[in-house]
Order: sequence, then C-alpha cells, then structure tokens
Amino acid sequence: MADLRVNVAGVEFKNPVIPASGAFGYGREYEKFYPLSKLGGIAIKGTTLEPRQGNPGPRVAETPSGMLNSVGLQNGGLKKFLEYELPNLLTKDTRIVANIAGATAEECGELAKALDDTAVDMIELNISCPNVKQGGAAFGTRCESAAAVTASVRKATSKPLMVKLSPNVTSIVDIAKAVESEGADAVSLINTLLGMRIDIKSRRPVLKNNVGGLSGPAVFPIAVRMVWQVTNAVNIPVVGMGGIATWEDAVEMMMAGASAIQIGAALFSNPYAPVEIVEGLNKYCDDNGIKSISEIVGTVQPW
Ligand code: FUM
Repeated sequence: MADLRVNVAGVEFKNPVIPASGAFGYGREYEKFYPLSKLGGIAIKGTTLEPRQGNPGPRVAETPSGMLNSVGLQNGGLKKFLEYELPNLLTKDTRIVANIAGATAEECGELAKALDDTAVDMIELNISCPNVKQGGAAFGTRCESAAAVTASVRKATSKPLMVKLSPNVTSIVDIAKAVESEGADAVSLINTLLGMRIDIKSRRPVLKNNVGGLSGPAVFPIAVRMVWQVTNAVNIPVVGMGGIATWEDAVEMMMAGASAIQIGAALFSNPYAPVEIVEGLNKYCDDNGIKSISEIVGTVQPW
C-alpha cells in the first residue's frame, strides 16, 4: 500500500481525491454507494449567507464530452449548513472543505467568520461561479477585486484559505498571484468555462440563463495547462480540477503541479469515480515503486 497522504496548506488529507463543490452535495446521496471515509475530503456546495433557489431551469445541458450548468448557487444557506449538514459531515472521517460564496467582499468575510470556530478543515472561497450576477466570477476576473475579497476573508478567519479561480480570464497566473499576495494559503482551479448551446428548432438557448459553465473531459487539457502555469508562478499549493475522470487523469494533473485533485462532472456519470481514482492511484504507485503519491507532484519535465 503506497502512502497516499497529501498536505495542502497544513491540512493533511488521507488521499488527494476530493469531490468538487456543487457536484457532491453534502455526500448524503453518494454515501449509499461507499463510505465517505474513503475520500480525502469533501468540498461542499457553495454556501451563501441566506438560502438560494438558484436559477430557473433548464439549467443543465449535455455537450460533447462535457456538460453545461447554470445552477446559480442553489443551497440551503449558512444556518442550515451549520446546524444540519456540518454535524453529519463531521462524523464521516474525512476532511471538510467549506466552499463559500458571498455577493460582496463583506459577505464573504461574514461567512468565513461564522466558520472560523467550527471544525471545518479548510475554507474554499468561490470567486469563480459564472452563474450569478453578484459575487462569483465578478470577483475573480480582475486582480483588484480578487485581491480585495481575499483580504476580507483573510481578516475574518485563521482557517486555511483556498481560493477557487476562474479560467474565464486573460491571465489566471495574475489572479493567482493577486490572491496569494493577500494571504491565500492555496488556490484551486479551474472552475467552469463559460459556454452556450442553442436549440436550433426554437432558436432559444438551451439554458434558461442563456449561458452556463462548461465542465467535463472537454476542459481537461485547459485545466492541466492552467494548473501547470499557476504552479510555476506561485509559492502556495495548487489543487487541480477540471475534467478529471480517471486515475490516469489524476496522475497527469498531479504531475502538472496539483498537490490534490477535485472531481466534478465525472460524478454524474460515474458516482464511483473518486474511489476508483483512489484505488487506481494506489496501484499506480505500487506498480511503479512510488512510496508516496506526493513524489509525483510537479514532476512534468517540459521540453
Ligand atoms: O451555478 C453554480 O451553482 C455554480 C457554481 C460554481 O461554478 O462555482
């Protein structure tokens, strides 16, 4: 058995595989398939101060080798998370990454403060949701606003802080550096790429929101490229995501520089993907004489 433990910003995960925010809810449905303790951690659905219904449907569409979503941060709000979801999650013997999404920098600070004296292991600040009018990608597509919201959250919490970045930018490296300079302990990337589909009979967009975020295998090479670029530009750990569906993808993403990985769209076609990836990583290490999975992080040798 290889050592699959990884350390991200001082938090030790038993393995590097974390279901991504928004793709796994709070694990209740997936627990029917396997114990959540098999996972390195769980990134919870983006939590806002108040409950949100999200955007009107249709809000999910299939694409070649991927999917579009325009969910709009549907969630039960902070109070429900603290009183109902978190106590249950804390019994699961896995790390809890609390994804937060505020409409303003102050709201993000308020969310972080409320989580500061809970047992969540890490805060993931969402500055990259493409499906809301305030907050989300509106923060994450300019260095100044990305830095300002990170500073507001940094002041509010001493928890390890990871900032989730948008690929819908001119330079993701510049955004990563901006959040690092304001105290981010890690960055996670990529969130979804803004996309659109049109029903050619009705001439209407397939999504009621007109546009939505593209995820799935189609975006994987973009995610690998961005993780590699960001890893080489910052001094904080990078958590990689975007189209990872197999253990081979996970190895590739880690070789690009990811200290850990998140699994999103793959969960919808294969709920077992995270545990299959954990098993695959273990076998890959054993077959290749790798004692610790951390040994492969950032080992790509560019031409
Ligand atoms: O629309 C959504 O809830 C998606 C959130 C995200 O991509 O961060």
